[in-house]
Amino acid sequence: MVQTHEKTATSPVNIAVIKYWGKRDTDLILPTNSSISVTLSKEHLQSKTTIRASPLFEKTRLWLNGIEEINLINNKRIQNCLRETKLLRKDYEEKLGKEIGMDNVLSLSTYNLHICSENNFPTAAGLASSASGFACLVYTLSQLYELPVSATELSKIARQGSGSACRSLFGGFVSWQMGSKRDGSDSQALQIASSDHWPELEALICVISDAKKGTSSTEGMQSTVKTSTLLQHRIDNVVPERMKLMTDSILRKDFSKFAELTMKDSNQFHACCLDTFPPIFYLNDTSRAIISVITEYNDKSGECKAAYTFDAGPNAVIYALKQNIPEIINLIFKFFPPSRENLTFFSDPFKLFSDRKIGN
Ligand code: DP6
Repeated sequence: MVQTHEKTATSPVNIAVIKYWGKRDTDLILPTNSSISVTLSKEHLQSKTTIRASPLFEKTRLWLNGIEEINLINNKRIQNCLRETKLLRKDYEEKLGKEIGMDNVLSLSTYNLHICSENNFPTAAGLASSASGFACLVYTLSQLYELPVSATELSKIARQGSGSACRSLFGGFVSWQMGSKRDGSDSQALQIASSDHWPELEALICVISDAKKGTSSTEGMQSTVKTSTLLQHRIDNVVPERMKLMTDSILRKDFSKFAELTMKDSNQFHACCLDTFPPIFYLNDTSRAIISVITEYNDKSGECKAAYTFDAGPNAVIYALKQNIPEIINLIFKFFPPSRENLTFFSDPFKLFSDRKIGN
């Protein structure tokens, strides 16, 4: 009887507080600066992937959210992740073969795969679905192939699927060290601290629009690399120091410093988008109104009690300490009254997610 081998795994979304924007090598996905992110809880935002391997499968196939993606399976980034994990499996099979005899080792590395991946949140909502999706693909493959490798090793493979995916291999607070080697062997994710380190920190996600973004991160960042002079200043003079300060603020659980750096970095990333020619606009009027509301709230409080950050889209992520979250939710509701009845808020550490839209 021919046996089918199957593994299922889940991976979380991460939201950067020091943003990755720009590649020095687009094939290997090597960034122009290091970055730091916070991994969210898997409860509300996660990718789930099931992979089957069988000698009977005629080809490798991929389903995303229940629909077969005939073209996507040949996508270079997916192929890179499959190739790299298969190579590691092949090495492992050879090593095992020497130890226990070739006949006893399963040649899983030669089998075709059926891959099913789904997100428990809208894929096009600009909520870092490529980060959790590629992290999940690589992690599930490592489980299927029983690879004896660390999360940092896997992060180098996930990075080749989508840069930000390398950080989703870890929970808690994670840095992606840009590295300096040309082959990318030192461009990897490392955990700064686990989520237990700072359980009072929460993330509130405000979905402003779930429309697919106009300029993808991949396209947008290379356009910035080519045309923005501000980006070079950011790479040389801003991010290296900010990486140290952000790591330090996390380790010391200094929310005020963490918040200031998070907001400044989001602002500078969007300034680089504006400095791109032609300019890229990811924020909309609602995003800018959220920035004003949070700024005023911090001013009135006399300290930074909330930090906004925006990725390549208009949706806001607000970081705050647990005790201030109810106040911030009330504030957001006051300025952006609910447009729908079914509001959902979850308030566990790293687990806050609003599924309502707050107007365009
Ligand atoms: C603004 O990781 O999606 O979210 O490497 O081309 O797949 P590719 O880009 P991607 O870019 C993420 C950009 C960002 C900032 C960040 O997550 O650090």
